[in-house]
Amino acid sequence: MAELMDKAAASVDVAHGQNRPLLSVEDLRVEFPTASGTPRMALRGVDLQVGAGEILGLVGESGAGKTTLARSILGLPPVPGRISGGRVIFEGKDILALPERELHKLRGRRISMVVPNPRGELNPVLTVGDQIANVAKAHLGVSRSEGRRLALEMLRAVQIPDPERRMGAYPHELSGGMAQRAVIAIALICNPAFVISDDATSGLDVTVQAQVLELLQKLAAEHGSSLLFITRDVGITAHFCDRVAVLYAGEIMEIAPREELFLRPSHPYTLMLLAAFSHNPKLRKVWTVPDDRKRGVPRSGCPYADRCPLAQPCCVENAPPLVELTPGHLARCYFPVRHS
Ligand SMILES: Nc1ncnc2c1ncn2[C@@H]1O[C@H](COP(=O)(O)OP(=O)(O)OP(=O)(O)O)[C@@H](O)[C@H]1O
Ligand SMILES: [Mg+2]
Repeated sequence: MAELMDKAAASVDVAHGQNRPLLSVEDLRVEFPTASGTPRMALRGVDLQVGAGEILGLVGESGAGKTTLARSILGLPPVPGRISGGRVIFEGKDILALPERELHKLRGRRISMVVPNPRGELNPVLTVGDQIANVAKAHLGVSRSEGRRLALEMLRAVQIPDPERRMGAYPHELSGGMAQRAVIAIALICNPAFVISDDATSGLDVTVQAQVLELLQKLAAEHGSSLLFITRDVGITAHFCDRVAVLYAGEIMEIAPREELFLRPSHPYTLMLLAAFSHNPKLRKVWTVPDDRKRGVPRSGCPYADRCPLAQPCCVENAPPLVELTPGHLARCYFPVRHS
């Protein structure tokens, strides 16, 4: 518990800017062109900080903008998306202003990403050992034999059974869980300062998922890496994130240290999200399906207003700002739920 409190305190410092965060996303805006000519806003001014060694959970339903945010942090919004505003400061540098060559060096070396569908990520005609070694060669400039040595070390670290033999295996010879471990090995081989896991375990069965998550957490801690952990499942973040941010329709609705978010959720959307994952049928009933047609269209009020049981006329008229309720706990709502 003491350790948890220390971590929570550290993340509050980060949120207050007393420590310089490792990553700072500032007013990030991303839009997609549409046939009508009016672009569809996928991110509407996202602000987010991640401290060194911190695990930040990012939760949101499908279409909330999680992948768009993850990829835009790397300067690669999903095609045909366009970053229309904001900054991404990483290790003191504005990533979005870097020349492509610098950006290329940063990706995979200092920031790496783990995504679902591991087989799709791996090259089918290269052995697992060679693929991991190639990444080390390209980014760290090591020899082929040193690359292979590091690859084997990494396969051991991600707990792939019989790693010597698996060095020579092709992706189709690995189970889904093993392929995901190989992808994690590739992501971590250069000892990146920042790892983004975008829904990385969603295709795996529950037990394997838990093992892979535990592994990701352990490796991030051992390497001192920060982790942006993206998921649709708010329950997962309760287990191992230091702080949790809730994204809805391209905006951060609430962000708080983990304990605070789960014990004192303040945004009505967060409450709905928690209810949706609850086993209580009464709570689940209030959970409504999002109306996709309204998403992304220009509007002036709160994006959640049309689904919110607490909405008042002011919510539809003007978008509420993200307000700090208690140190490190922010919610974008005129009527945040208070807990005594
Ligand atoms: N390739 C694309 N073309 C057009 N619009 C897109 C594209 N990718 C994303 N969008 C838009 O951006 C919004 C956010 O999509 P994104 O993939 O970031 O959501 P997500 O939170 O990652 O969802 P999921 O949980 O399903 O992965 C979508 O609702 C859609 O409007
Ligand atoms: Mg996604």
